[in-house]
Amino acid sequence: MAHIRIPRPWEISEREATPESAFMTRRRFLAGSLLATVATAGLVSGCSPPPANDAPPLSDIEKKIYPAPRNNAYSLDRDLTDEAVAAGYNNFYEFSDAKEDVRTLARRLIQRPWAVEISGLVGKPRTFDIDDLLKTLPMEERLYRLRCVEAWSMAVPWTGFPLRALLEKVEPGSRATHVRMTTFYRPFQAFGQLAFWEPWPYTEGLTLPEAMNELTFMAVGVYGHPLPAQHGAPIRLVVPWKYGYKSIKSVVKIELIDHAPSTFWNTVDPLEYDFTANVDPKVPHPRWPQSREKMIGTEQVRLTLPYNGYGREVAHLYGG
Ligand code: MTE
Repeated sequence: MAHIRIPRPWEISEREATPESAFMTRRRFLAGSLLATVATAGLVSGCSPPPANDAPPLSDIEKKIYPAPRNNAYSLDRDLTDEAVAAGYNNFYEFSDAKEDVRTLARRLIQRPWAVEISGLVGKPRTFDIDDLLKTLPMEERLYRLRCVEAWSMAVPWTGFPLRALLEKVEPGSRATHVRMTTFYRPFQAFGQLAFWEPWPYTEGLTLPEAMNELTFMAVGVYGHPLPAQHGAPIRLVVPWKYGYKSIKSVVKIELIDHAPSTFWNTVDPLEYDFTANVDPKVPHPRWPQSREKMIGTEQVRLTLPYNGYGREVAHLYGG
């Protein structure tokens, strides 16, 4: 069941007037009709990739990475979420608004070649091929809590590198204040992007100090192997002290800019999804109280921690 709901242009002001299921059905119907029209026009033929396995064999580059050494500075106060549970309960609206369907539909994502452009207010703009990136940066494993604004949480072992290590390679300019990240735009692989009333491609943003914080991580792997598509292959952001929607998946562009960028969810509904989005048990979301959270898999209910338990590392960024 999808929980993050996108108000449609025709939606009446009383938020609960339309049951969510009817809403989503209408969305799928519209996207499906659109796809059917395009397919009839012959534009889709030949564009459908064959289904990929969840875990294809490791490339030679990947064999050198996994298992990556664990950085024990990042430990957990809870057990890791079972891998199969985490891999079957995903928000990735490019593919579906039903979490349980994402795993199957995301197999359509073609992951190679994959380039990540880093540009904007930097001294040395560069476009990295993902495999060159994998060879260039030292990889490590970190265990992080993941807290969704929908009041569920997981605990996940990510493999990757701090975003700061990548940004230092392009030399951020003195005028840069923010980082904007963008996901691919491929409506013929990701049918959710056929919903033309939504602000695709998915974008997210951080302040530069947030981006340079030691916790801010670019993940290329999870549970000791490369990211499966549904977790945001081949490279995604992980910002563990913020609600999960900030952790943008399948990144193709990172820009350094001099203003706060507009972002996907904040554009869809600024009252529900604010730009900063720090986990805060004291600030209820209009639809989900945030004082507690439920661990996916065990259904254990826990008290939500300010900054998702990472206050020591990040409170200073907000004057606390
Ligand atoms: N990134 C993109 N491109 N599209 C999305 O729909 N969903 C976000 C985030 N990143 C999303 C995204 C949300 S709401 C959450 S909670 C996390 O991804 C979920 O990450 P996971 O599926 O790896 O647990």
